[in-house]
Amino acid sequence: MTEPQAEPERGLAVVIGAGGGLGAALVEALAAPGGLTGGRVLALGRSSTPAIDYANEASVQHAATWVAEQCAAEHTELRLLLVASGFLHGASGQPERSWAHLDASYLRQVFEVNAIGPALVMKHFLPLLPKTGRCVAGFVSAKVGSIADNALGGWYGYRASKAALNQLVKTAAIELKRRNPQALCVALHPGTVATALSAPFSKSGLNVRPPAVAADDLLSVLAGLDASCSGQLVDYQGKVLPW
Ligand SMILES: NC(=O)c1ccc[n+]([C@@H]2O[C@H](COP(=O)([O-])OP(=O)(O)OC[C@H]3O[C@@H](n4cnc5c(N)ncnc54)[C@H](OP(=O)(O)O)[C@@H]3O)[C@@H](O)[C@H]2O)c1
Repeated sequence: MTEPQAEPERGLAVVIGAGGGLGAALVEALAAPGGLTGGRVLALGRSSTPAIDYANEASVQHAATWVAEQCAAEHTELRLLLVASGFLHGASGQPERSWAHLDASYLRQVFEVNAIGPALVMKHFLPLLPKTGRCVAGFVSAKVGSIADNALGGWYGYRASKAALNQLVKTAAIELKRRNPQALCVALHPGTVATALSAPFSKSGLNVRPPAVAADDLLSVLAGLDASCSGQLVDYQGKVLPW
């Protein structure tokens, strides 16, 4: 599935969720000389200018307009869009171990960040991708969002919100292909990465990788994907995972 292909054409890369552990590492790797799209990357998140906060669709729209303006000013195109935002635990709650723990405010938060926010990114950013040539939209999901792979149970909200994200990615990939047959839209499983999101749940036996390693792995996988991989959930080793 992941035979070496031409890298995405030179152009602009955008990382959303750039303030997170994995997002920051993706920005750093892309900004390095020889980075996947040639070193030009825009980092967006709740602390950037402009900021993106999924609680406010206007912020997503405004950031997309700003990216379009940057592309026009630099006579370039958006060739790589990476969405590395996500939510597992925080003030609104913790992942559930039982149906007894299901809580509406936690469920709203986890769906807002993991599914609704990325859907708004699709709405406002996918139209910026060029209509010809290779370009990639990668949405960081999680293997636990795979329904087929769910053998352990638990984590109802996170699993369900990532399953929703996976369906959004599949659906957007179909629409994107009609615009540009060389464009890819994929869901990505980064493996277990040493970030604030995973910290309370990292236990011995898990292969916990530093964010820089996880970012390099994902970028290598993306460089090797061909258009037939669009609409799939791909892990950090390039393996296509079941839905
Ligand atoms: N770490 C792992 O082991 C692991 C495993 C599987 C999948 N993943 C997935 O990998 C991705 C990156 O996670 P991470 O480990 O880097 O976690 P992280 O360090 O906690 O980063 C999460 C990111 O999501 C952003 N975010 C949270 N709420 C938001 C909102 N309302 N609007 C916009 N952005 C918001 C955060 O923004 P701020 O910087 O502004 O807080 C931050 O940039 C997530 O999709 C996660 O589900 C991670």
